[in-house]
Amino acid sequence: MQDVTDWAFLNLLQRYGGADVYFTEFFRVTQDSRLDPEILRSVTENPTGRPVVAQVIGSDIAALVRTARELQAYPVAGIDLNLGCPAPVVYRKCAGGGLLRDPERVDAIVGALRQAVTAVPFTVKTRVGFAEGGEFSRILEVLEKHRPDLVSVHGRTVAQRYRPGVRHDLIAQAVAELSCPVLANGDVHSADEAHRIWSATGARGVMVGRGAVRNPWLFTQIRQKGRGEPVIQPTGREVLAYVEALFEAVSDVAAREVDRVHRVKKHVNFVAEGAEATGRFLHDMRRSSTRKEFFRICREHLDHDAPMALEPWIREELES
Ligand SMILES: Cc1cc2nc3c(=O)[nH]c(=O)nc-3n(C[C@H](O)[C@H](O)[C@H](O)COP(=O)(O)O)c2cc1C
Repeated sequence: MQDVTDWAFLNLLQRYGGADVYFTEFFRVTQDSRLDPEILRSVTENPTGRPVVAQVIGSDIAALVRTARELQAYPVAGIDLNLGCPAPVVYRKCAGGGLLRDPERVDAIVGALRQAVTAVPFTVKTRVGFAEGGEFSRILEVLEKHRPDLVSVHGRTVAQRYRPGVRHDLIAQAVAELSCPVLANGDVHSADEAHRIWSATGARGVMVGRGAVRNPWLFTQIRQKGRGEPVIQPTGREVLAYVEALFEAVSDVAAREVDRVHRVKKHVNFVAEGAEATGRFLHDMRRSSTRKEFFRICREHLDHDAPMALEPWIREELES
């Protein structure tokens, strides 16, 4: 996740059990782009001990091919093409989710990358269409033609952004029509939801974004449920300790205090959505600008021993 799951966050996440495989933030690829050294650090100094796949986003075929070749000189576990980003600044340039409006271009890009990625698996992350799920069949046809090694499907359209209504039926369609393994993505906020989406779609696994920032215990909880064990439930105080660890990990000690607080809010936004039903935590936390004030608000909501579900109370409409 861009600006969220950087080296420092992956390093922290691993302390809570971590995922089986990670995908980097996207490398933005244009005619004269260079590999972003901060993102590359997640590969060259991989802190997880698990495989890390490098993700690229762009629409310039020659530049994507050049970047994919460059990345293969590093210890990447794969190269992933982003066909899902809904940010207007990205999709207006016909990259990320914007490409889903143009299956012919997807065909050309995926074909070129398939040829260029020879040393490691080539994977694709896609949404289920640009404006409506009806476009997905054509996208799947194009993907299948080039035989990617893995496809992750976020079951929303680009126009839907993060609004409710993840299309499990369309993820199941991808599972049925693609020869490669499929990862199901979208609103996996709990071990129960992970197992629900698995059985509803037949996917090989789940990809988790916001849920892991909100609840870094989530991967452990999913594994525990899979083994039929009781699922650990962190207390408020454990979540508070996570927020304290986040502050130290993701914000730069040398930065101004206001910038450190601003930086950690990107992550704690997700925690606050899961911690308190009225939205007051989220509201107050967002307005804090000093470390003291930020932690006073966090303690007000988290300094207790009650177990926390950490599933979002505040739904995605707020984020769109
Ligand atoms: C702040 C933010 C940044 C994101 N950055 C990326 C990215 O760089 N690459 C990507 O494939 N998806 C990115 N996503 C999308 C997520 O990976 C994921 O597909 C989406 O949030 C739905 O899954 P979730 O409900 O588990 O979060 C981002 C999402 C958010 C909210």
